Amino acid sequence: MKFIAFDVRDDEKTYFLAWERENNIKVTLDSGVLDDQALEKVKGYDGVLALQTRAYPAGMFEFFKKHGIKVLSVRNVGVDNLDLKAAQANQILVTNVPAYSPNAIAEFSVTQLLQLLRQTTIFRQKVAAHDFRWAPYIGEELCSKTVGVIGTGRIGKAAIKIYQGFNAQVIAYDLYPDPKLKSQGIYVPTLADLFQQADVITLHLPATAQDHYLLGEKAFAQMKQGVYIVNTARGALIDTKALLAALKNHRVAGAALDTYENENSIFNHDLRSQPFDDPILAELLVQPNVLITPHIAFYTKPAVENMVLIALNSAKAVCQQGKSDNLVTK
Ligand code: COI
Repeated sequence: MKFIAFDVRDDEKTYFLAWERENNIKVTLDSGVLDDQALEKVKGYDGVLALQTRAYPAGMFEFFKKHGIKVLSVRNVGVDNLDLKAAQANQILVTNVPAYSPNAIAEFSVTQLLQLLRQTTIFRQKVAAHDFRWAPYIGEELCSKTVGVIGTGRIGKAAIKIYQGFNAQVIAYDLYPDPKLKSQGIYVPTLADLFQQADVITLHLPATAQDHYLLGEKAFAQMKQGVYIVNTARGALIDTKALLAALKNHRVAGAALDTYENENSIFNHDLRSQPFDDPILAELLVQPNVLITPHIAFYTKPAVENMVLIALNSAKAVCQQGKSDNLVTK
């Protein structure tokens, strides 16, 4: 049995090498993305590991089938960029890492919200310019806010626990409510209720065709004046143009975006000497009340270790037993 892993970063290598030694299974590490050109490289392997938010090559699963590859094991949770129907049609099993560290993402989203509430970006800029005055940048307190959590899976649950630790009032919405959370009475019946009641809206749901632009013009119009938005989930959940408009008319007081709908050619790239052509992002980047981070909520040592090891173990289980606890295809 042998595997090839794409998009491998230096910070993942130690975990790959340790697993390879322990399991005596060859894993070829490739730092490039799995795109059309890279597809040729998978020939001769039993399983492929990948991690990317951009689309995978069209026809990838047919190619895998033709070359005897049994499994695609992604080292992340989101599978919105994969054609799972094509995987099934070609009998390729796909696994993800459903819970590498819900806390990594939950902690990061709360961190970003706190920075928005205390306007730390502005203070950092002012202090760097030796302006040490306070006013008029007075802060808000999380304990007096109603936080609306959309999506109460593992990450949403971890976020709720943290927010409750801050004594914030938490309300939540999920198409599939969690029975334990339901007994706490935190669910509101509709998204509109959440929009109307929340001082903070934090997204913790996957991107599907149904929730594309979940937060768009209509949703922003229903929200409280001065609401804060946090998105560490997927860029496609927010109509960024509508968000910019809502920031300009002060419906939205601040936004922390770790994901962005057009992030693929920008986030995790060094563009210091290469200007990017994205006027919307360029405008967001200069807003003092917007925090942009390049999809790093997941990026902690425990999470990265889990992503690598769980993905490898899933690929091995599929090759040896034809199944894995982390299958996203049948
Ligand atoms: C995910 O796990 O789906 C993430 O958003 C992390 C990212 C590295 C793809």
